[in-house]
Amino acid sequence: MEQVNIEEIVKQVLSEMKGSAGSQAAAPARSAAPAGAIPKTSRVAMLTGLENYDIKEYPIPELGDDDILVKVEGCGVCGTDAHEFKRDPFGLIPVVLGHEGTGEIVKMGKNVKVDSAGKPLALGDKVVTCMIFKDNPDITMFDLNKQNVGGADVYGLLPDDDIHLNGWFADYLVVRGGSSIFNVSDLDLDSRILIEPCAVLIHAVERAKTTGILRFNSRVAVQGCGPIGLICIAILRTMGIQNIVAIDGEQKRLDFAKELGASASVNFKDHKGIEELTEAVKDAFGGYLADFAFQCTGSPVAHANIYKFIRNGGGLCELGFFINGGDATINPHFDICSKEITTVGSWVYTLRDYATTFDFLKSAKQIGLPINKLITHKFPLDQINEAHHTNLRMEGLKIAIINE
Ligand SMILES: NC(=O)c1ccc[n+]([C@@H]2O[C@H](COP(=O)([O-])OP(=O)(O)OC[C@H]3O[C@@H](n4cnc5c(N)ncnc54)[C@H](O)[C@@H]3O)[C@@H](O)[C@H]2O)c1
Ligand SMILES: [Zn+2]
Repeated sequence: MEQVNIEEIVKQVLSEMKGSAGSQAAAPARSAAPAGAIPKTSRVAMLTGLENYDIKEYPIPELGDDDILVKVEGCGVCGTDAHEFKRDPFGLIPVVLGHEGTGEIVKMGKNVKVDSAGKPLALGDKVVTCMIFKDNPDITMFDLNKQNVGGADVYGLLPDDDIHLNGWFADYLVVRGGSSIFNVSDLDLDSRILIEPCAVLIHAVERAKTTGILRFNSRVAVQGCGPIGLICIAILRTMGIQNIVAIDGEQKRLDFAKELGASASVNFKDHKGIEELTEAVKDAFGGYLADFAFQCTGSPVAHANIYKFIRNGGGLCELGFFINGGDATINPHFDICSKEITTVGSWVYTLRDYATTFDFLKSAKQIGLPINKLITHKFPLDQINEAHHTNLRMEGLKIAIINE
């Protein structure tokens, strides 16, 4: 498999995009809607140094004919935000982060009529943006970085520009014409904040389905019960898959995995060595190995382990390494060839996966999965440093910034 160095790619994307973001936002001013009670300025949480956000205030600019002003209601803290907060690997500082955000349209340029799915947009609608843009609904972030550099309008992951209202950790966001935006007024606030991480798993499950191995009656192992693994379990349940074994070392997370639909769980800390752990996974499936497994940790050891849990002829979706997590040691003969394992990798999502995600969130609620409980902590914008430290201490699952 080709190895992708995401940090290099992102740096390249950014260097080619710099300069264009500000000029787009400075388009001629005209709006179809009255200004109403929109304030003259907006607060933003600007990451100005490592582990330090400052709350800054900037004028809300005039909108271009294709632009949208969104009043931010909330935004999730993502692993990528945590990386930026701690190390700035992409060299973005100063930057307004926050890409898992949602809010209400309070002003629109006169040309704005529909969202990226063709659904009408109106004042008062609740929206999310998507990092994948609309000219190709099937484009993945991998293709985006390779081919579409310069065409993207990404919010919360670009260095600051002269408008400043370009990330969701803020009171207001200016969504520029041509960006991917969706009307999600029929979802509650917590669900809307969970859309972006859920889209990652919709994509992973779509990738898994290409193997032809994932079926209604499959035995599925999900290794890693952070937000990513937990959402994976919930999606499998909404698809009608019943036989799911969750594997992690944190009992609280394993217990929640059961609430979200896992039929059994295995705490790897209770078992010494890979043979004993494999037996425990087998026992949890009633004496069988998994037909299919999702690897949802960023641990190379966990990657090496997971092949042992899969039956001959089974399948694996590896999605745990959003960034380079180091090398894993496996035995290609025993782990892949002789077992005839079909493996797929999964990274980010497509625009189409985004739309599927809205339906997943509704289905999860309909069958009673407590998906909103994934958001364990909520902080106001001015406590964003504390929110990030809570995230780094791994005290909860999904941490969110919620505006009043
Ligand atoms: N493919 C993508 O597009 C994509 C997108 C987002 C995140 N990710 C990656 O997915 C991974 C999981 O994300 P998250 O937010 O759930 O992270 P997380 O750190 O909250 O969860 C990881 C879980 O794995 C468990 N774990 C660690 N080592 C283990 C082992 N050996 N066996 C079993 N469990 C083990 C941990 O206890 C933890 O609960 C991260 O590495 C992240 O980078 C990938
Ligand atoms: Zn994210």
